[in-house]
Amino acid sequence: MNNFVYDIPTKVYFGQGQIKYLPKLVENIGKKVLLVYGGGSIKKSGLYDEVQQLLKGCEIFELSGIEPNPRIESVRKGSQLCKEHGIDLVLAVGGGSVIDASKAIAAAAKYDGEAWDLVIDRKLIKAALPVITVLTLSATGSEMNFHTVITNFETKDKIGTGNPHTYPYASILDPSYTYTVPRSQTAAGTADIMSHTFENYFSTTETAYLQDRLAEDILKLCIHYLPIALDEPENYEARANLMWAATTALNGTTAFGKGDAWSCHAMEHILSAYYDITHAVGLAILTPRWMAYILNDKTVDRFATYAHNVWGIAHSEDKFAMANEAIEKTYQFFVDSGLPMTLPEVGIDETYLAEMAEKVAPRLKYSYVPLNAEDVVNIYKACLTPG
Ligand code: NZQ
Ligand code: ZN
Repeated sequence: MNNFVYDIPTKVYFGQGQIKYLPKLVENIGKKVLLVYGGGSIKKSGLYDEVQQLLKGCEIFELSGIEPNPRIESVRKGSQLCKEHGIDLVLAVGGGSVIDASKAIAAAAKYDGEAWDLVIDRKLIKAALPVITVLTLSATGSEMNFHTVITNFETKDKIGTGNPHTYPYASILDPSYTYTVPRSQTAAGTADIMSHTFENYFSTTETAYLQDRLAEDILKLCIHYLPIALDEPENYEARANLMWAATTALNGTTAFGKGDAWSCHAMEHILSAYYDITHAVGLAILTPRWMAYILNDKTVDRFATYAHNVWGIAHSEDKFAMANEAIEKTYQFFVDSGLPMTLPEVGIDETYLAEMAEKVAPRLKYSYVPLNAEDVVNIYKACLTPG
């Protein structure tokens, strides 16, 4: 296991009704709040009114319309509002996109230069306004990590940035706020949780026993609870377990002591930067194809462990058979969850595959199995047809 520092400063308030802590949390910081939210789901669900009511003693400024795959233009707008009005804290109410935009806004509010600089070079983030999040979608883990992923459609880039300054100050995780998440986003969110887990689990550091067993349990949890959440959107147990799994999958718990660069996320982010697709749909499409592509003599033991511990596939001398069965089950799970499983279904054809692969390849040099541009094209091509 590699050395690591465990230092997550985010306070988490988990469970139904925990929003009651919001006024006190805000009061600890200040009165001028920038409320950031998306396309209106929080107005439909009533959460917007609840927040307004709880913070009636505050001066609230608003930035609405944060896009899924949040854009640098929104970050610029938000940071401008913070500077203009002397905002004390940013309150993100929404999914990962709203939270990511809020973190970037909070950092850009404390930076004199161009906001995109902070995305390209995370070291330039030297301070940020405090961010409080009220999570409405279980997926990214952004509520308890410092990452923020911002898109620049002008340059066709979608890049993750952040450093310890962009950890949320506090996050309110009430699973009942996810009752209204539509089927497609519920399935996609779970694919994202699973992908974060895979990215850490398939690693050259194979001596992190606790992290790996936790990772397997997160995967089993997703496999068990996603179908329940899809059938019964208001099943608290399913929503609560998926929510805490999402947070745990990307707050470092399964990554501490490991260190490879991620694979599917890099390949997906470039797809989103060119085609503005739903992040986790891209991941679901890529993951089984990536798994099949990197299965070899060196990786087969890990896949056989995955097969047995996650899918309950019986041990066999033929580890490749175990691995292939597990990959097939992974694919079928996404199909059964209703996710599109080919690139053409999300509007992507062969036109830019080579260009995107060239652009992303440098980020894959230090992955679990290093990939070059040709490998990436092969993986993308495998995603053009079902199976
Ligand atoms: O915009 P609104 O109206 O709120 O609707 C959203 C949006 O259309 C809707 N939604 C959210 N909560 C809802 C709801 N609809 C009904 N009821 C609710 N309770 O869902 C749609 C998608 O929301 P979004 O925030 O985009 O989804 P997600 O949480 O999956 O975030 C995706 C973004 O996070 C980035 C992705 O790349 C993508 O840009 N990621 C961030 C990471 C991080 N910060 O650590 C890591 C991830 O790997 C990922 O890259
Ligand atoms: Zn992700």
